Amino acid sequence: GRPALLDRFGRRIDYLRLSVTDRCDLRCSYCMPKGFSGFEEPANWLNFDEITRVIAAFARLGVGRIRLTGGEPLMRRRLPTLAAQLSALPGVEELSLSTNATQMHKHARALRAAGVQRINVSLDSLDRACVAQITGRDSLQSVMAGLAAAREAGFAPIKVNMVVLRGVNEHEVPRMAEFCFAQGFILRLIEAMPMGETGRNSGVVALGPLRDALVARFDLQPLATELGGGPARYWGSADGRCTLGFITPMSQHFCATCNRVRLSVDGTLYLCLGQEARLELRPLLRAGIDDGGLEEAIRLAIELKPERHEFSQAPHKIIRFMSQTGG
Ligand code: GTP
Ligand code: 5AD
Ligand code: SF4
Repeated sequence: GRPALLDRFGRRIDYLRLSVTDRCDLRCSYCMPKGFSGFEEPANWLNFDEITRVIAAFARLGVGRIRLTGGEPLMRRRLPTLAAQLSALPGVEELSLSTNATQMHKHARALRAAGVQRINVSLDSLDRACVAQITGRDSLQSVMAGLAAAREAGFAPIKVNMVVLRGVNEHEVPRMAEFCFAQGFILRLIEAMPMGETGRNSGVVALGPLRDALVARFDLQPLATELGGGPARYWGSADGRCTLGFITPMSQHFCATCNRVRLSVDGTLYLCLGQEARLELRPLLRAGIDDGGLEEAIRLAIELKPERHEFSQAPHKIIRFMSQTGG
């Protein structure tokens, strides 16, 4: 039968988030600290052949869903070439991308041709000044152009990720929902995790009450169908015109059904978004480990996967910035 990678808690790991760079053209408050400059040295970046070897090993172990993340993944040069290499691997069933879309107008068609099947786009507001405040750049127009280009290239459905920040963009949620529904995008509301500047000091907006209000306003029902491999819980209208997802790592975590691990650009395998547990694969790769050894190392690493994050126990301690693992 199909290989299965199980952790100590019986969770099946079949989804890998691959960060292809830790750099980004934006500076979202919840993702990086102010004035951050501790980026990885390019010499420590896995090259395309190294990445492909690691992903091939995961695919042989039954991890068939790969999501490209960053930093901003489109900042990695020749990303479509890497995407084509990965989507061609035996056992890779799905290749998806999480992007800020500022560069999407240049790459949408090439990514589609390279086998990228689904994209998720970060957009926290429709107000130019608010976007500039959150992302540190005047980026709204380029994101809009990127969204249009992605749709034109045939990506569907496109998911829009909105991190809800207290007193910053909270009031914009209904307007964002109207916009996304009109455009045929799925809107996902996200609770901010303490992994950036914002996480140090802001209270989390628990999405429960907001969800109740939106469910009533748009007459939504919970959806049983899975819309991707992630932790979002979805609601939709009977006519299928409106779909809303909720990602609640803080108020209602979903660790019991966690299916994923993360590989950073320097070849570190992180077993949980909110924990230190990790294995450095780069030294193994560069010491010439063979495919069997690589698979064995991955199996052993999966044993280290923690049961859950502990964000609420230490809300002001930041173990890592989101830009290192791409969410
Ligand atoms: P699909 O469901 O496959 O479309 O993707 P996704 O929602 O998993 O990916 P995306 O990159 O769009 O991430 C959306 C949000 O979910 C981000 O805030 C991520 O940090 C968060 N997220 C994704 N996976 C996990 C996870 O395993 N744990 C936690 N705590 N948050 C996660
Ligand atoms: N908490 C929750 N979500 C975050 N993202 C980035 N930083 C955080 C954070 N601290 C989200 C962005 C992006 C996705 C990949 O991760 O919305 O779309
Ligand atoms: Fe999985 Fe860790 Fe995310 Fe929980 S916080 S869902 S255990 S990666």
